[in-house]
Amino acid sequence: MADIKVIFGSTTGNTENAANIIAKELGGKAISAADARPEDFNADILILGSSTWGVGEIQDDWIGGLAMLNDCDLKDKIVALFGEGDQMGFGDTFVDAVGTLYQKVTERGAKVIGRWSAEGYKHGSSTAEINGEFVGLALDEDNESELTFERIRKWCGRLKSEAGL
Ligand SMILES: Cc1cc2nc3c(=O)[nH]c(=O)nc-3n(C[C@H](O)[C@H](O)[C@H](O)COP(=O)(O)O)c2cc1C
Repeated sequence: MADIKVIFGSTTGNTENAANIIAKELGGKAISAADARPEDFNADILILGSSTWGVGEIQDDWIGGLAMLNDCDLKDKIVALFGEGDQMGFGDTFVDAVGTLYQKVTERGAKVIGRWSAEGYKHGSSTAEINGEFVGLALDEDNESELTFERIRKWCGRLKSEAGL
C-alpha cells in the first residue's frame, strides 16, 4: 500500500478538517506542518495543504515545512495540493498559498496531480490558477462551506485514478 502523507498548515482548523477528510478518503495520515519531520516528506504520495493569510501569504506553520522541502529531492514524486481561502474577502489573492506550494514543489522536480477547474469561483485572481485551472483543490469555508465535502470527495476520486491507487 502506498504511503500517503497529508501535511497541512491551518490556523482556525478549516484546512485541518479538510486534511483529515482527505487522509481518510485516501487511507493516508494527516500531519500538521508544524509537527512534520523531514522523513514525512519522503512519503510515496505527498498531499500538501495550506490556508492563505495576510494578503496572499502561506499559513505560518509552513515556515519550517518550506525549509524542509528545500532539502528534499522531489524529482518525479507525486504531489497534490489543496488550500482554504476566501474568494469574496480576498478575491485578488484567493488561495495564493497553494500557488506558493506549487512553485516550491515544481522547482524541486515534483509531478503535481489533481488540478481543479476554476469555473464557478468568483475570485479575481490567484497565483494558484493557470489557464482556468487551480493547480490543486481550492476550498472556501467562508463562502461555500456547503460545497466542501463534495469537492473533497470528487477530488480524492480523481487523485486515486491519476495516481493509480
Ligand atoms: C486576516 C485574514 C487574512 C486572510 N487572507 C487571505 C488571502 O489573502 N487569501 C485567501 O484566499 N484567504 C484569506 N483569508 C481567509 C482564510 O484563508 C480562510 O478563512 C481559511 O478558511 C482559514 O483556514 P484555516 O482555518 O485552515 O487557517 C484570510 C483570513 C483572514 C482572517
